[in-house]
Amino acid sequence: MGKICVVGSLNMDLVATGKRIPVVGETVLGETFKQVPGGKGANQAAAMGRLHGDVAMIGKVGEDAFGEALIQALAEAKVETKDVTKAPTSTGIALITVQADGDNAIVVVPGANAELKPADIDAAKATIEESEIVITQLETPMDTVTYALKLAKKLGKVTILNPAPAVRLKDELIQNVDYLTPNETELAILSGMPTESQEELEAAAKAMMNKGVKVLIVTLGSKGCLVIDENGTRQFSAFKVKAVDTTAAGDSFNGGVAVALAEGKSLEEAIGFATKVGALTVQKAGAQSSLPTREEVDGFRG
Ligand code: RIB
Repeated sequence: MGKICVVGSLNMDLVATGKRIPVVGETVLGETFKQVPGGKGANQAAAMGRLHGDVAMIGKVGEDAFGEALIQALAEAKVETKDVTKAPTSTGIALITVQADGDNAIVVVPGANAELKPADIDAAKATIEESEIVITQLETPMDTVTYALKLAKKLGKVTILNPAPAVRLKDELIQNVDYLTPNETELAILSGMPTESQEELEAAAKAMMNKGVKVLIVTLGSKGCLVIDENGTRQFSAFKVKAVDTTAAGDSFNGGVAVALAEGKSLEEAIGFATKVGALTVQKAGAQSSLPTREEVDGFRG
């Protein structure tokens, strides 16, 4: 099995649950509060570790208790953490509100994640060299993401970009991406095109393919996902499950795809595996607290 390197964010999630997410200017009474290890990069790495992937993380935390706790959580998920370094600032945090139907609203304050620089990628070059797949997201600086993807491609690695939170991307960055994995909202931002109807979704997806992406996987929540590659366009359905909390569902799906590809599975098999991982994740609360084990995924029948 090939090694996977995650370049990305680590956040401590401060999670309030309640009946519904407040509207602007409103105060609502919540029901529970929890502190849970999160961050899109760390969630993806932890998901892979729990799925028995061989995974290393490159990232930055602050010199505080949250930073220590996040490194510890990754180590417990069997993620290699020697390239998670510290900056003299506070660790990234995410303020998350989860409402009764499992949907959430998130504000991320990047903190130390903003200090992950191209020099940190150079310092961790040996880890990238020994990996087969490099995956990143957009919660660390764009220069660093671009640098990491370029270096990974130069070293002959397979690259995955989960473009979350989404912004318009430069062609220079997209050209170094093999697998692009937005959700439908992110695809609308990336392409500058609407994605509400099936026709709009496919047109926006094709516009991204024309920019040089090799495989596009658009996650559609309870509607499954749309995959486009050189073999055409296919839709995959999701399992019907009762969502408790959708936080980290996209992260665990990405983790599932990466682990399956690293194990040599086909794209179709990887999507099938990742769909199970996502379905199990939404049935539990929190980010890293909701990630399934390999045994749970292998035993899942929908
Ligand atoms: O994708 C979920 C993650 O987004 C949370 O864990 C939070 O930290 C934010 O980064």
